This record gives sequence, C-alpha cells and structure tokens, in this order.
Amino acid sequence: MAASQRAAMATRHPPRPKDRARIVENTIAQIEQEAEQALAAASRSEQVREISVRYLGRKGLVTQLLRKISTLPIQDRPRAGQLVNHAKIRMEGRIEKTLERIQHQVADDDRIDVSLPGRPAGLGTLHPITQITDAICNIFRKMGFAIAEGPEIETDYYNFEALNIPKNHPARDMQDTFYISPNVVLRTHTSPTQPRVMEKRRPPVRIIAPGKVYRCDSDLTHTPMFHQVEGLLVDEQVSFGDLKGILTAFVHDMFDARTSLRFRPSFFPFTEPSAEVDILCVMCRGKGCRVCSQTGWLEVLGSGMVHPAVFENVGYDTERYSGFAFGMGVERIAMLKYGIDDIRKFFENDLRFLGQF
Ligand code: PHE
Repeated sequence: MAASQRAAMATRHPPRPKDRARIVENTIAQIEQEAEQALAAASRSEQVREISVRYLGRKGLVTQLLRKISTLPIQDRPRAGQLVNHAKIRMEGRIEKTLERIQHQVADDDRIDVSLPGRPAGLGTLHPITQITDAICNIFRKMGFAIAEGPEIETDYYNFEALNIPKNHPARDMQDTFYISPNVVLRTHTSPTQPRVMEKRRPPVRIIAPGKVYRCDSDLTHTPMFHQVEGLLVDEQVSFGDLKGILTAFVHDMFDARTSLRFRPSFFPFTEPSAEVDILCVMCRGKGCRVCSQTGWLEVLGSGMVHPAVFENVGYDTERYSGFAFGMGVERIAMLKYGIDDIRKFFENDLRFLGQF
C-alpha cells in the first residue's frame, strides 16, 4: 500500500495507536527504498544533492516523518525513533558513497586511453601572401634572378635620397611615411634594396627583393603594412625592350599566357623613362567592370630604366651600364589572382579565409 493511500485511510478510520507505529515503520522502509533507487540512477553530483535535500533536508520526507513521532503513544516512540534514525544514517552513508562513485567516474572519463587512435593535428598552409611572394620569386628565379633582402627599418638615405627622391617629394611627408627619427623610416617601398645591392656588387646584377613595406594608409585597398617584390637588372646594353620582355614573361607565367599587357608612361624619380604596367582585366577580359573601374585594365606594377642619378650614387659608370627596375604589390597580385575585394582580409587571421588557399 502506498504512503498516500495509507494516509487517506487514516483520516477515514483513525488508526489505533498500535497501528500508527506500524505505519511509521512501513513508511520509512518505503522512503529508504525510493531514495536508494534514485541514488543508484544518479550520474551527476547535482542530482545527488537534490536527492539529499528531498529526503534529508529541513522539509525532507525523513525529517517530516521524524516530527510525526511525537504524535505516537509514548511507549511506541523510542522504537519508531530508532527505526527512522537508523534509516537516516544509512541514507546519509549511501549519499556519501554515491558522490564518491560519481567522482571516480569523472576521473575515469578524464584518463587518457593510450590505445585510442590519435586525433591528427590539422596541417597548416602558408599564408596566401607568402604563397604569392614565393610564386613571383620562383618565376624570376627561373629567369636567372637571385633573391636579395633589405631592412624594414631603413635610413632616409636609402629609402629616398639614393633613389633621387627630392626633399620636397610628397612620399616624404609625415602623413605618408612612418618616421622613427628624422633620418630613419619604416621603408615605404622595396626600392632601397637597389642602391644597397649595387653598392656591394659590380654589374651584372640581376636580383629580386621581396619584403614588407609601410605607409600611413588604411582603407579597402590599402593597409599600413603590405608586401612588395622589387626587381633590378643591370648590365651592358640593357634596353627597354629587355624590360618589356622580362615583364611580359612574368605576367604570362603568373596569370595566363594570353594575358595582354599595356606599358603606360609614368613617373618615378629613380627611373627614366618610367612605365606603369597594366594587364587586361582578369575579371571582365577588358569589357569593363567594378574591379577595373570600367577601364578594362588593371595596374599591376611600376617600372622603368634605372635613372643615371641612381647609378652615380652607387658609383656605377653610367656610360657603360644600363638597367631596369620594377616593383609590384604582392597583395594586389593576390587580390587579382583570387578575386578578393578587401585587402584587410589578409591580415585578420580568420582561418576560414586563410584555409582556402
Ligand atoms: N617603388 C615604386 C613604388 O613603390 C615602384 C617601382 C619600383 C617603380 C622600381 C619603378 C621601379 O611605387
């Protein structure tokens, strides 16, 4: 008979005092059994704590039963009290045991199973800018260019002066250049590697210089730090035709062998004549689109024949030697090759973006 049924009967036919003691006895047995089952099924310590409150808490079933003992005939109280108290002690012990069991289980789950196959660590990839830099350098390496490098913290002399960039040139403005001190800057281009290399070597020179450059500039197509690859070739009888040939071979290798190029007159203080190289828009094939601002052409690099003033600064004989130089933005090449419209994506380090290359 359930405890509730028994309670209902009790109101209809008030049990005799002797039966009341029997009812307490049965009820505590039933409560203990229920608690045991609940504890056996518990798998988390919070569940055990709930069970403890439900049975042994201030308003718990066992506590309520203990209070009822005072309503029993005086001679029945000691035995009933003992029964309930013993049950209570057993239940407390069982709660303790259950908590221990759960703790051990958690510890077991944490233990390392050395027989399990390992989780493979994902293989990383090179950053897209590194990949494109390598691709550019490899194309020029095939054509006999050697890799050179220069410092990112550069003197005013190599960054500007040696390259024939006059004192009043806008590139020298505080707004455009990061000054470390009046004569030291974060290089604004890779061109200072030109005089650095030429000071150390006699012609023929055929180098490619990749690296980071810095400008005070930040928007959809500009970041304060970006990458360039510089090229320099100096020898006897180097002509503008050689410049066109080498750069055409590069573009055809980098993009597509059918890509058209356009050499557009331009100006750089360290080259004369100078030319900007455009390629036919890789997106619309010259029809005009958003990427090429409806012009059908994309600017990919600056170039020109090395200015005699630069040769004079490094002590090269301007009558005997001629050469050409060029510089390209790696991010720009990467954006065109992959169709990326926001340069900042390269530097946000979002693996969902970087993992695609
Ligand atoms: N240094 C130039 C720039 O950053 C590019 C360039 C390099 C132009 C070499 C001509 C020759 O814009």
